[in-house]
Amino acid sequence: MRGKFITVEGSEGVGKTSNLNFIEQILQETGIKVVRTREPGGTPLGESIRELLLDAGQDNMCDDTELLLMFAARAQHLHEVILPGLKAGKWILCDRFTDATYAYQGGGRGIEMSRIAVLEEWVQQDLRPDHTLLLDMPVAEGLARAGARSEPDRFEQQKQAFFERVRQTYLQRAKAEPQRFHVIDASQPLNRVQAQISQVLDQILAE
Ligand code: TMP
Repeated sequence: MRGKFITVEGSEGVGKTSNLNFIEQILQETGIKVVRTREPGGTPLGESIRELLLDAGQDNMCDDTELLLMFAARAQHLHEVILPGLKAGKWILCDRFTDATYAYQGGGRGIEMSRIAVLEEWVQQDLRPDHTLLLDMPVAEGLARAGARSEPDRFEQQKQAFFERVRQTYLQRAKAEPQRFHVIDASQPLNRVQAQISQVLDQILAE
């Protein structure tokens, strides 16, 4: 049986890493074989592309180059990790996927959504995540949390208005696809966030 494809999304500082650890642990405890991976990245080639994309020194990169590099890394990730994993019955737990492209390159940079949709069809054909957990919190709160970390990368250097557009695009997509998206209020205390995530996972595991 084909495994499930689960993605986790959100703007900066929403606590993706600790919540991904929590999700991975629950799935493993249920006896599911989980492949934890991320975008951009997830393969040696994809991680090299990620370095280019995040490098704050690449200040001349045009928006289309950024978009195409995201999908180039994704094509390799699908080929090497995601599709073989799903076929082998494993669950793929992915830190960001194409919803991030709509949110950051579409909402953030202002690239037309229809152009992103063309690449999505081209690279993924009919593959879409089965479920997406969107960790949501007010942008200022997320940026304050993220700001406490190391040197900002090329995306983290963006202004608050960019991340407001990212957040709104995520929320619009969640509203348009309520079956796939599960919006988690990530501004709550961690135990409440985890309780909400556990409920969603129970629902997914019961399918
Ligand atoms: P991360 O910090 O969550 O690992 O993600 C790296 C950055 O890449 C983050 O700022 C969001 C950005 N990104 C996009 O702009 N478009 C995409 O399609 C993906 C997957 C990530």
